[in-house]
Amino acid sequence: MTTNRQAHLTALASAALACAALAAGPARAGEVEVLHWWTSGGEAKAAAELKGTMQKMGHTWKDFAVAGGGGDSAMTVLKSRVVSGNAPAAAQIKGPSIQEWAREGVLANMDATAKTEKWDELLPKAIADGLKYKGHYVAAPVNVHRVNWLWANPEAFKKAGAKVPTTWDEFFTAAEALKKAGVIPVAHGGQNWQDFTTFESVALGVGGTDFYRKALVQLDTGELKGATMQKVLETFRKVKSYTDKNSPGRDWNLATAMVIKGEAGMQLMGDWAKGEFVAAGKVPGKDFVCVAAPGTAKAFTYNIDSFALFQLKDAAKQKAQQDLAATLMSPSFQEVFNLNKGSIPVRLGMKLDKFDDCAKTSAADFVATAKGNGLVPSIAHGMAVPSSVEGAIKDVVSQYWNDDKVTVAQAMDRLVGAAKGK
Ligand code: GAL
Repeated sequence: MTTNRQAHLTALASAALACAALAAGPARAGEVEVLHWWTSGGEAKAAAELKGTMQKMGHTWKDFAVAGGGGDSAMTVLKSRVVSGNAPAAAQIKGPSIQEWAREGVLANMDATAKTEKWDELLPKAIADGLKYKGHYVAAPVNVHRVNWLWANPEAFKKAGAKVPTTWDEFFTAAEALKKAGVIPVAHGGQNWQDFTTFESVALGVGGTDFYRKALVQLDTGELKGATMQKVLETFRKVKSYTDKNSPGRDWNLATAMVIKGEAGMQLMGDWAKGEFVAAGKVPGKDFVCVAAPGTAKAFTYNIDSFALFQLKDAAKQKAQQDLAATLMSPSFQEVFNLNKGSIPVRLGMKLDKFDDCAKTSAADFVATAKGNGLVPSIAHGMAVPSSVEGAIKDVVSQYWNDDKVTVAQAMDRLVGAAKGK
C-alpha cells in the first residue's frame, strides 16, 4: 500500500513538474538578441529567415537592427552597449574585428557547437582560422560575399547602344554613351564605405592582385605612393565624374534602385546588391546583368559575414545563443539565407541548384581564385586591416573623392600617413 501510495505521489509530482515545464515553454527556450545592420529590402528578407528559424526552435528573437550599410553605425552602438555592460547575445562582427573583440575578453567560446557541427571539416581552413581566437571559435560565418561586381541595366545599355564593360577603357566608353542617352552612367551613394567599395575595385582592376595586396593589405609605403596608385586615383576620380550630383549621403540600396529602374546604367557594389534586384522581382541575365568589376574577372574580393556571441550569465539565453550559432552553419539555413542575401554559402559541399548564374559564377571564381593568387580580402568591408587603420584610409579616400582640390600627390601622402596611424 505504502509503495503504491509513494508511486502515486511520485507520478503526481512528475506530472506537476511536466505541466510547469510546458507552461514555461520548451525547456531550452531563451531570448536571443541579435545586432545586425540588415535593413534594406534583400537584407531584411535574409535576416527574417534567421528570425523565423530561431522562433521555430521556440526561442524569442529580439531584433537589434541598426540601419546603415556597411555597419559603421551598428559598430558604434555595439561598443556603447558592451561598455555599459549590456551586450546583446550576438552581433554581426567580422574580419580582424573578431580578434579585436576577443582580446577584450567579452566573447563566448563556441568550440562545443563547432565540434558537434563539424565546422573544421565544413569550412575552408583560412576562413576557419579567422573565426578563431587563440585556437578557439569565437564567431560563426554565414556567407561569402563578392565585392568586385558591376551591376548593369541591360535596357539602359541598349538605349545607349553600349556594351557592358569588362575593362576600364570600355567602362568609360559605356559611361559616355549612357550619359549621351540621358541615363546617369554610375549610380553611387556617397558614404565612406561606398566610396571605398568603388575604390578597391578600381585598385584591383587597374593595379592587379599583387598591387592590391601590397598597397592596401600590407600597407606598403612605396606602393601607396607609387605610379600604380597614381593611376588608380586618377581612374577613381574619373569614375566620379559619371555619378550624379545627388549622390552624397545616398544609401547604397537607393543607388541600386536607380539601376533597377533604369535611371542609372551601372553600379559598382558587392553582391548584397543582387539581394535588392531579387527582392524587387528582377531576374538575373534578363532584367539585370552581373559582371566582375572592370579588369577583375580573375580576382575575387571576399567579404564574409559572421556573428560573434557575447558572454551571458542566463543559462536559457546561453542555450539560445548556441542554437543560433548551430543554425547559422546548417545546410538549410545556408541555402535560404544566401538565396535572399545575394551571397553564396560559406559551408563547403553545398548544392547550388537553386542559385542563379551570378552566384554560380561567384562560387566557381571563389574556388579558382583561392587555388591561384586572385583571392583578396575587402578593405571596405572590414576583412583586411585593423578597424582604426581602415577608418583612417577610408577617410582619406572619401576626402579625395569629395573634394577635387585634393591632388593625387596629397591623397597618396595622406594614405601613407593613415596607414602609419598618423
Ligand atoms: C557589408 C555586409 C553585407 C551588406 C553590406 C551593406 O559590410 O557584409 O552583408 O549588408 O555591408 O549593408
